Amino acid sequence: MGALYTLEILRPDQHAEAASLLKRSLYEWYESRLGQGARFAGDADAFLIFPQVYEALDPGEAICAVDPSGRLLGVCFVHPRETHYSLGIVATDPSSSRRGVARAMVESVLARARLEHKPVRLVSSLMNLDSYSLYTRLGFAPGVLYQDLSFAVPPGGIVSEPPQEIHCVRFATAGEASKIADLEQSIAGVRREKDYAFFLENKGGHWRTWVFEDLTGTLKGVLVSSHHPHWKMTGPGCAADERVAAALLWRALDQYRGDSTVVLVPGAASGLVATLYSWGGRNVELHIAQSTAGATPLKGVFFPTFLPESA
Ligand SMILES: CC(C)(COP(=O)(O)OP(=O)(O)OC[C@H]1O[C@@H](n2cnc3c(N)ncnc32)[C@H](O)[C@@H]1OP(=O)(O)O)[C@@H](O)C(=O)NCCC(=O)NCCS
Repeated sequence: MGALYTLEILRPDQHAEAASLLKRSLYEWYESRLGQGARFAGDADAFLIFPQVYEALDPGEAICAVDPSGRLLGVCFVHPRETHYSLGIVATDPSSSRRGVARAMVESVLARARLEHKPVRLVSSLMNLDSYSLYTRLGFAPGVLYQDLSFAVPPGGIVSEPPQEIHCVRFATAGEASKIADLEQSIAGVRREKDYAFFLENKGGHWRTWVFEDLTGTLKGVLVSSHHPHWKMTGPGCAADERVAAALLWRALDQYRGDSTVVLVPGAASGLVATLYSWGGRNVELHIAQSTAGATPLKGVFFPTFLPESA
């Protein structure tokens, strides 16, 4: 059989088609397997934020599979970083599923990473056995389990006193990207200064970046949140311990008064999870870190997110 598709770099003029594919693929998968398509029922334009943010951060890095007529069959977002490659959303058109399209796109990233002797990392949903299987069949090993906690923050704020250390949390300032990247490397073993420079530059005006600085002036944690109308997510970030994490989260959640957000928190951080339940957090999904380098232990708390992918 001849080639049914080719792998190419996703061009900006294909972003609207990519957004429509993302919507169709997520809606169809979650509706047919879990009856939860409503989670992705919005206008396809709402999904434009993915190719647009990914292109702004990593120009020319997204891969797509294209059929001979030029139609997109799949997209895969790729983020080369100092220590590793991150994989963003991988999605195939429902009419092309189970034909090896996703596998081919991910294999091309693995081949590139192998040449640079870097691992590939991602977070995958534990409710989505197709994606879990896709990655583990390609040699990824599962690691840290994350709970996706959703918060509907009352208009008056979280009904709970702020943690004692709240005064240590402040907005990050321009120029702190390198220090923040050092901190993340010490906690999670990954470095991606570019991402933090991107958040701090904040061209779209949707990102808020907080740091926790202790009384000696040492950074102990960082947390980013997105307030884009189509993307209200808290993360990425990391914290030296659960107390630092709680102070950062309280500050970030307080910014969503009268609104809602989701944050991924390591299930093993049981004290933090208990605190988040007491603040009204509800589990909406489970994710698991996967890496071709095997499971990487955390030296603190890590908050991954999907925009940009921050495994
Ligand atoms: C997940 C998704 C990308 C897979 O795309 P796809 O093009 O159908 O996947 P492929 O055909 O390339 O490969 C799927 C692999 O998983 C395997 N697989 C699927 N279900 C499996 C299971 N339950 N157990 C073991 N293996 C399984 C398939 O056999 C295949 O492996 P193989 O090539 O070695 O046979 C697609 O279903 C999708 O777009 N879903 C919606 C978007 C999404 O959820 N993306 C992932 C997270 S962002």
